[in-house]
Amino acid sequence: MRHPLALFTFGVGLLTAACGTDTMIEDDDKPVPRATWYQDVGPIVAQHCMGCHSPGGIAPFSLTEYEDAVETSMQMVEKVDAGEMPPFDAREDADCTPRHTWVDDPRLTDAQKQTLHAWIEDGHALGTEAELPKPKSTALEGISKTMTPSVGWTTTGTKDQFICYVLDPGNKELTWLTGLQVRPGNALVVHHAVLTELTKQEDITAVVAQRGIGVPWDCGDNQTPGDFVVNVWTPGNQPMQTPVELAVPLVPNAKMVMQIHYHPAGQNNQIDFTSVDLRFSSVWPRKMYFVAAVGNELEAPNLMPSPDEAPGAPPRFMIPKNVPDHPEKMFRTLESLGGLTGVKVFSVNPHMHLVGTHISGKINRPAARGNDPKSECLANGGWNFDWQRTYIYDAPIDQLPGIEAGDTIEISCKWNNTIQNPFVQRMLRDSNLPPQPIDLQLGEQTTNEMCLEIFGLAVDAPPPPPTARSVPFVMPELGNFQRRRNIQ
Ligand code: HEC
Repeated sequence: MRHPLALFTFGVGLLTAACGTDTMIEDDDKPVPRATWYQDVGPIVAQHCMGCHSPGGIAPFSLTEYEDAVETSMQMVEKVDAGEMPPFDAREDADCTPRHTWVDDPRLTDAQKQTLHAWIEDGHALGTEAELPKPKSTALEGISKTMTPSVGWTTTGTKDQFICYVLDPGNKELTWLTGLQVRPGNALVVHHAVLTELTKQEDITAVVAQRGIGVPWDCGDNQTPGDFVVNVWTPGNQPMQTPVELAVPLVPNAKMVMQIHYHPAGQNNQIDFTSVDLRFSSVWPRKMYFVAAVGNELEAPNLMPSPDEAPGAPPRFMIPKNVPDHPEKMFRTLESLGGLTGVKVFSVNPHMHLVGTHISGKINRPAARGNDPKSECLANGGWNFDWQRTYIYDAPIDQLPGIEAGDTIEISCKWNNTIQNPFVQRMLRDSNLPPQPIDLQLGEQTTNEMCLEIFGLAVDAPPPPPTARSVPFVMPELGNFQRRRNIQ
């Protein structure tokens, strides 16, 4: 199917470029292609794919050259149409569509998808050679400090490992953090990284005495020290950057713990030195950034009955084996916010384990308040364990969804616990179990599941003290929110 308007516009462009070859428009046997690599498809691939699909990038093949793209074009459209590439699991549907779009949403528009199809159908035209745009830079701007382990970690075998390092931001005074970027040393084996902050002086002293600074130790899958998660990094993620009016407090002499999930997959003796760039801000912010979680409810009344349970039985967080779309739904009323005021949802980082397929979160308020409707969708998405990320609303802080004590958060999840789900196969293999699905319960292990939304909150900051030393900074409590320390 040719689109007459596209043909016309394109014909004019080509005419100029090719210096008046009338025959190209009149020759019916050789219609002018609706899209070419240099003019149409290359720019899309450069901006949406080449960040990962380039030589030395994290994707298994490069898409930087015309020839590469021609060779894989059928797979490209298949993955793009299926919503699998570029990896980004946010969804919008009748049940749940957030009021704001997301920062750095890499998904192709329908028009861009049609351009890809047209290019293939019309025979992969090359077009007139031109420079392709560069993929968006993923470098953090204005780096103040880079923290690097003093001793690297060498991976062995096929089993995943959780390795922790204490890192030192080097701040003697309260310091505001507005940017953080994890730079994996060895992309072959670094699966993801979680950064926490140690804020209590006695914990800092104890952990440093026991572990040293910059020295790796095996912290298992549930032993990461730290009072709160500052950032979760997954491959392909943009750096964490907040506007200067929103910042993470680093208490005086704070230490951070970096937990790296290594996925060696037989890549023996790969040494890794992953470093972390930090950006400090000298501006006292209007809002502080904290990470707090809701979900993982174990029982009534917060957990709802599921259709896979006997009617009338007390609801349980249990994902029965061999069920392809088991749902759990839970509610948490935030009776207390621990004294936090001006609470806004800045970002959402959904979290499940391997077998999950869908997760969404909504907020139900007792009544509409200002810009905030009575109820709204906070996030909705498919779930792929390998592509975890923090979704940030593309909106000014004052227009973000607000939370007050008395509001209820609703979280819904789905799982596919059948052997047809490759992640079930992987979960069983990683746990040395026979290839038969098992019932899954809430927990921290690979054979457990989760249903959790981790919110990045913007909360009112205290007023600046007359001098940095005059008032000791106290980390606020988060009330009914859970402070997440461990994320696998
Ligand atoms: C954030 C990094 C990233 C981006 C951006 C990205 N990919 Fe990928 N892609 C990967 C990785 C990694 C794989 C390997 C398979 C996997 O882990 O899912 C992959 C695999 C693929 C595959 C092969 C899938 C298979 O089954 O072998 C295709 C085709 C593909 N990508 C196309 C694209 C296209 C087209 C774009 C842009 C529209 C894109 N990708 C953007 C990282 C990325």
